[in-house]
Amino acid sequence: MSGLPLAERRLLLILSGSIAAYKALELVRLLRREGAQVKAVLTAGGAHFVTKEALAGLTGQRVHDDLWGAEAEIGHIRLARWPELVVVAPASADLLAKMAHGLADDLAATVLLATRAPVLVAPAMNPAMWEHPATQANMALLAARGVAAVGPGSGPMAEPESGPGRLAEPEEILAAVTAHLAPAEASPRASGATASGASGAAFSGASGATPLAGRRALVTAGPTHEPIDPVRYIANRSSGKQGYAIAAALATLGARVTLVSGPTALPDPAGVATIRIESAREMLAACEAALPADIAVMNAAVADWRVAREADQKLKKEPGAAAPTLTMTLNPDILATLSRHAQRPGLVVGFAAETEKVVEHAVEKRRRKGCDWIVANDVSGGVMGGDANTVHLVTAEGVEDWPELPKEHVAARLAARIAEALA
Ligand code: C5P
Repeated sequence: MSGLPLAERRLLLILSGSIAAYKALELVRLLRREGAQVKAVLTAGGAHFVTKEALAGLTGQRVHDDLWGAEAEIGHIRLARWPELVVVAPASADLLAKMAHGLADDLAATVLLATRAPVLVAPAMNPAMWEHPATQANMALLAARGVAAVGPGSGPMAEPESGPGRLAEPEEILAAVTAHLAPAEASPRASGATASGASGAAFSGASGATPLAGRRALVTAGPTHEPIDPVRYIANRSSGKQGYAIAAALATLGARVTLVSGPTALPDPAGVATIRIESAREMLAACEAALPADIAVMNAAVADWRVAREADQKLKKEPGAAAPTLTMTLNPDILATLSRHAQRPGLVVGFAAETEKVVEHAVEKRRRKGCDWIVANDVSGGVMGGDANTVHLVTAEGVEDWPELPKEHVAARLAARIAEALA
């Protein structure tokens, strides 16, 4: 078996409850094909979806599922000490919460608390559960402690719902496992523990590679709110989804990411330092404070204008009086400012949401703003705030037309292009 990539490597696979647990059986097959020794722990939830017998057959070992049964006393400690890598796939929201908070109420949670081996999680759950601030906070906590993650992917789920939460494909998990177990010089292990500060938490990507390790990225996202008086403001329909996905995708590739976000309903992306601001002027100040950076991706829908004189007190509707006239003034252009900044990031990427002549306007915008790339998209159909995007990447070399893709895929593809450009 010595020629195999994972020959004799010791992997402990923990399966928790998810309809995607059947994919873990395929993962076991792939791991064994690569030469790995695999022991499995099945939670009570996992046992609803795969049988102990199927797992025992595929691993060629007895399956562990009981904290209190025979050989339990030191069994869980021995099990925790045995592996070189613990893989939790599928990792349910419940098990991730237990890991984040150090619970040890079943064999899986106890082994995860007792092990000193690195841990790779492959989350799988309903999109609403994945996006819930509790799950995102748990993931951020785990990332900060050096737990790596692969996925989840986005797309149709078993339920009549679509979104992030799909278990990564067995081949992706295998690639992440291989990258984690490969010799350091061949593939650096993604780990929040190796980066400095909470914002340095890095998730390993689907491939497990971290080509942006050591790079700093600044991303803007969402709308800005421009105050009229203490209770009113001018805003736009930006959801922030695309920018958040880009911040997460860059972090997945190992970058230390600062996300400067206008007001959105989205949770802070895991492993990303998120700074919340309201107005364009606050966004510019936060961006300048985040320099130096290697990469800047300016995705925010910054208001072009603000009210020239913000009222100190709430404007009163006096009976019989005419409606007030708002005089507007130009906001700073953050993208143009950073593109000509003394500390200009090496690669500056702007966005252009256009309703007509999309590419033509983007080419002109790239020149005018002084950025390196423009990601242009057609918003003529009122698609702002949706889950998919059809974009054109405008660079000095020309224009690439990308197909319609979920925003997470646009983000992953853009992050990969950025990594390629900086390589
Ligand atoms: O000029 P326009 O708003 O169409 O340009 C869009 C691009 O410029 C986006 O990348 C956006 O984030 C950025 N922008 C900016 N500051 C502004 C206006 C736009 O950074 N005040």
